[in-house]
Amino acid sequence: MTATLLDGEALAGRIRARVAEQVAELVKDGLQPGLGTILVGDDLPSERYVAMKHADCNEVGMTSSRRRLPSTATQEELQAVISEMNSDPAVDAYLVQLPLPAGLNEEAALLAVDPGKDVDGLHPVNLGRLVMGAEGPLPCTPAGIVELLAAYHVPVSGRHAVVIGRGLTIGRPLSLLLALKRPGCNAAVTVVHTGVKDLASFVRQGDVVVAAAGMPGLVTAEMVKPGAAVVGAGVSWEGRKLLSDLDDDVAEVAGWVTPRIGGVGPMTRAMLLVNALRAAQRRARSAG
Ligand code: GUN
Repeated sequence: MTATLLDGEALAGRIRARVAEQVAELVKDGLQPGLGTILVGDDLPSERYVAMKHADCNEVGMTSSRRRLPSTATQEELQAVISEMNSDPAVDAYLVQLPLPAGLNEEAALLAVDPGKDVDGLHPVNLGRLVMGAEGPLPCTPAGIVELLAAYHVPVSGRHAVVIGRGLTIGRPLSLLLALKRPGCNAAVTVVHTGVKDLASFVRQGDVVVAAAGMPGLVTAEMVKPGAAVVGAGVSWEGRKLLSDLDDDVAEVAGWVTPRIGGVGPMTRAMLLVNALRAAQRRARSAG
């Protein structure tokens, strides 16, 4: 293997430690930061993600409130829980875990979240801020990827980034973020997806490649420019085994690569804590 491993687990640990220090300061000033989650249905990966988010909160000294609805929940029941989170003073920021079970309207749910409590940066107001290049909570996986690349001094500014995938939580916001004129971004960005003809010819042009398609082994060594930074952000599951969008051989060609486990996932959760901390700090400023 030639590539440097982009160790998201280690970086996320350092970010959690910094968040914990700032949480402790808020607590000392009499303000307890709190995160909320809403989980609908019994999707096993979602259950595990949410459990890890609550464990992270515990580690950094944030309280966490958990709401669980059955897969048979109606849209009205979901909207009612969202309203409760919006008005719960113990919750600075929260998320509705996606995907929602079939039959529930994700767009309506995201629209109902108070934009000031939107820890995911997925409310249209916050996505609009991202489009404008204005301050606001960034979607956690894109923000985590940019932090990870920056921590390893991967050249991004002025380089060509190829984003594979156009989903709401990763590909679409990441492509906007990477193109912004700000540190760690400022890239030429191409967005492709699995419906693109000759996908490999696009991927091969990337100095930075982020695979967020959720298709195991989609990016192979032959598709990668030697020395490129390659990030596997899409996940799929084979039973309890997490599969990457990156073929193992990518590490033989890439300059930097994420590991199958401990790359983007921990960074996503770390950025969630950062966004929740910022929401609590806003509350502290408006209170004091
Ligand atoms: N499911 C997969 N990724 C995400 C995410 O970033 N936020 C939420 N709410 N659900 C997800």
